Amino acid sequence: MYKRLRALRQASNSLKANIGLHTNVATQFARVNPTVSQISKYSTAKSVPYTADTYASKVSRDPKYKQIENKDLEYFSSVIPEQSIIFNNENDLLFYNEDWMRKYKGQSKLVLKPKTTEQVSQILKYCNDNNLAVVPQGGNTGLVGGSIPIFDEIIISLSSMNSIRSFDPVSGILKCDAGVILENADQYLRDEGYIFPLDLGAKGSCQIGGNVACNAGGLRLLRYGSLHGSVLGLEVVLPDGQIYNSMHSLRKDNTGYDLKQLFIGSEGTLGIITGVSILCPSRPQASNVAFLAVKDYETVQKVFVESRKELSEILSAFEFMDLKSQQLTAKHLGLEHPIESGEYPFYILIETSGSNKDHDDEKLETFLGNAMENGLVEDGIIAQDESQIQSLWSWRESIPEASTMNGGVYKYDVSIPLKDLYGLVEDVNTKLAEANIVDFEDGSKPVVSAIGYGHIGDGNLHLNVCVREYSPEIEKVLEPFVYEWISSKNGSISAEHGLGFQKKNYIGYSKNDQEIQMMKQIKNHYDPNGIMNPYKYI
Ligand code: FAD
Ligand code: MLT
Ligand code: ZN
Repeated sequence: MYKRLRALRQASNSLKANIGLHTNVATQFARVNPTVSQISKYSTAKSVPYTADTYASKVSRDPKYKQIENKDLEYFSSVIPEQSIIFNNENDLLFYNEDWMRKYKGQSKLVLKPKTTEQVSQILKYCNDNNLAVVPQGGNTGLVGGSIPIFDEIIISLSSMNSIRSFDPVSGILKCDAGVILENADQYLRDEGYIFPLDLGAKGSCQIGGNVACNAGGLRLLRYGSLHGSVLGLEVVLPDGQIYNSMHSLRKDNTGYDLKQLFIGSEGTLGIITGVSILCPSRPQASNVAFLAVKDYETVQKVFVESRKELSEILSAFEFMDLKSQQLTAKHLGLEHPIESGEYPFYILIETSGSNKDHDDEKLETFLGNAMENGLVEDGIIAQDESQIQSLWSWRESIPEASTMNGGVYKYDVSIPLKDLYGLVEDVNTKLAEANIVDFEDGSKPVVSAIGYGHIGDGNLHLNVCVREYSPEIEKVLEPFVYEWISSKNGSISAEHGLGFQKKNYIGYSKNDQEIQMMKQIKNHYDPNGIMNPYKYI
């Protein structure tokens, strides 16, 4: 056992050396926080077709929605200043009309950027009274086409509502505007000794309101739980302009229906979230990250079971990645993989977070020593300092960008019982091979391959089908096959990214008729004119 652990330490030293060689690059990619420029850099150079054209057989503009007229613009100009309005300027509108994957593109001519809840209320009431459809938008990093318009819906961007309202250092309760960028909220909390209970690769662009609207899960749900638990209250502008105020600070409150829950995960279909009250945990004093190589998916599960048993309260993340996802990431980052001894079918990232470094180090090393001793782990490294921790995380957090580097990516974000989880990736690869999709003119095949990675700790697989170009032919091979497969295993077709436009016709694979009926009733009750984010969700 002791011998094995030493071997592990040697491996971690080699990581140190590797990082020394690439210091600049390492700092450059330490965290993946896509910005507007990165978004265009990593996506296909071709212009994105309008979603309304790509999916013409599935969606058509509902004539009940009015088109924008001059008098509407005059009204909006009376509510917010000219500089908070983008109208008819294709270049400036592009960022708001195209999604992060460059798969979906809307045709909105108008973006409004209110600064106050009162302004949101006036805008929404006017839109509701005049049948003008709207799309609430945060950082536009959503992955299901929910944040962009399909036709000419008005985009209401929350980006100008970006203030921290208050923080209570005793309870750890943060109250902020919906447009605060996740990374900024976390930075603010860092100075107070606290941490935001959500972390994800798009933290540099996504907004707290957007996170709540799609009930994002992220990298540490295993430790901090879902937003359904940590959000204590919300401020939401309803379609008729009413301001629903529940910016509470109570962990326990059993007085009536928990209304805020309706808006967590509602993806902009019931109202616009303008404020969030959220319970934040103390920032861990000590963190460790280990990166392990294992021989098969069966072993990934065994290591997970052992890590929960042995690391218990200090385990804060357990992520897995298959070989292809790591090959792509290496190419994308232009770096050697940190595990240098060869290629392995699966990799695992384990993070511990606690309050006592010595205690956590000992626990982790004992666990890893046992895992090696029992033949579960083929090779592994432990980060020795904060910069190595960030570098190891980048091998996981860079996968979404790496998966788009060849042109585009079909994303399926699914919950499946752990034992079956990776089977979906294998079966999709078989299905793609069988389909033998015709070659492009230059002789290359459009499909690169299906890769798998995700949050094992939450039973959440990210199946990404990396393609050179989005094409109906490929989509037909994948859908409804993927959804049927998930349904046959009693899984969910959306673990954390939501339904948006991509999955609105497939909700029936995860919810029964009665559930869908009740959702429709709720939607009709709060948004009887259907102005909120139409053509999506249900
Ligand atoms: P947008 O993309 O702007 O909007 C998302 C949805 O919410 C849309 O339907 C929109 O209409 C609605 N919405 C936005 N703001 C509001 C508001 N204030 N009120 C009402 N509705 C609103 N997701 C995960 O769950 N886990 C991950 O680990 C994860 N990692 C990611 C990594 C990358 C690189 C990327 C690009 C995305 C990732 N995502 C992940 C997707 C994820 O959902 C988002 O990044 C984030 O939560 C969306 O926030 P946003 O502000 O960008 O929202
Ligand atoms: C992730 O876990 O990296 C995100 O959910 C984004 C993705 O699935 O690509
Ligand atoms: Zn994820």
